[in-house]
Amino acid sequence: MGLYMNKLINFIVGSTLILLITGCDDKSISLSEEDYGVLDNGILIKQYIFENDNQMKVKIINYGAIVVSIEVPDKNGKINDVVLGYDSIDGYVQDPSYFGAIVGRVGNRISKGKFSLDGKDYALAINNNENHLHGGIEGFNKKVWTPEITELNGLPALKLTYLSPDGEEGYPGNLNLEVTYTISNKNELIIDYFGTTDKATILNPTNHSYFNLSGEGNGDILDHVLKINADYFTPVDKGLIPLGNHESVLGTPMDFLKPKKIGERINNDDNQLKVGLGYDHNWVFNNWDGTLKLGVTLFEPESGRFMEVFTTEPGVQFYSGNFLDGTNIGKNQKAYQYRSALCLETDHFPDSQNNSNFPSVVLRPGEEYKQKTIYQFSTK
Ligand code: BGC
Repeated sequence: MGLYMNKLINFIVGSTLILLITGCDDKSISLSEEDYGVLDNGILIKQYIFENDNQMKVKIINYGAIVVSIEVPDKNGKINDVVLGYDSIDGYVQDPSYFGAIVGRVGNRISKGKFSLDGKDYALAINNNENHLHGGIEGFNKKVWTPEITELNGLPALKLTYLSPDGEEGYPGNLNLEVTYTISNKNELIIDYFGTTDKATILNPTNHSYFNLSGEGNGDILDHVLKINADYFTPVDKGLIPLGNHESVLGTPMDFLKPKKIGERINNDDNQLKVGLGYDHNWVFNNWDGTLKLGVTLFEPESGRFMEVFTTEPGVQFYSGNFLDGTNIGKNQKAYQYRSALCLETDHFPDSQNNSNFPSVVLRPGEEYKQKTIYQFSTK
């Protein structure tokens, strides 16, 4: 890496705080803060804007730790926002689809909301038929997080902290979660998670951004070309709860070992695609060891936009936007249609606590939960 001397400049323009980091290569990244909107209870929500020297701009709010927009250039330099979202705080307050948010404590489903830990049975809030989904009735996506502008590895960073009290949505322990967002001049959006608890609990958060590399609101994602570094996925029952086994992707529409158009087999008469109403499954990354590895790539041929997903996590929930139905009125009054975006939620497997053969999601006092996931954008 060589010598990287940072100049940190921190100043206020009007009501906007600007943090600018300049490296010795003359590249700079700025992070600024502005008012975003007011909740019904009077709480003011702030928006944080990252900008680098390579035309990447990312906006995040401290409500739900939501990624509001990711603007990146296409192969001709045209800028588009590649994530679904809303124009105002009200949209996010009412949103039923977890656009851009951090979901937790535990992302995806827990069968019947039940699990046991150290011989004790817990019953979580039920919010998805008979199951628990994405942290419950009022998950982390609907919470106000405490923001702090800071610096991480020489980059300006936004640290968002949420203290989830003992018993919230049925989970044990006071859980403290910090999510730190950064961007780099390599057009990476970097997300670092850090969690601690005062009682044994379960924790498996993820980011729930909906990507469309043509630009949000710009058609469906069926021509996006996906590659997932996974020989296996975890099949599910009709309630989308994992059966507990790993099944080979070979010879099935779940095979994304080589880059493949999402639409190629999505409407196949496959039992798993029928229960998922499309892709809504967890893939098991090959050779997982907890270090940061490339797990997924996504390419959109017309714009040439290419996204690589690096993660420390063992799996990814690939969800092809099967429940989008035109009723989410998003940015610029656009109705987001069926399969008009997809999620790549890096995390541990759904319902892990009820499947002893899945990697553990238990967090105990004195332990540190850590996850790092990077979404990197380029063109080809
Ligand atoms: C799940 C879907 C769910 C969606 C909610 C995804 O992570 O896998 O089944 O409907 O989130 O928007």
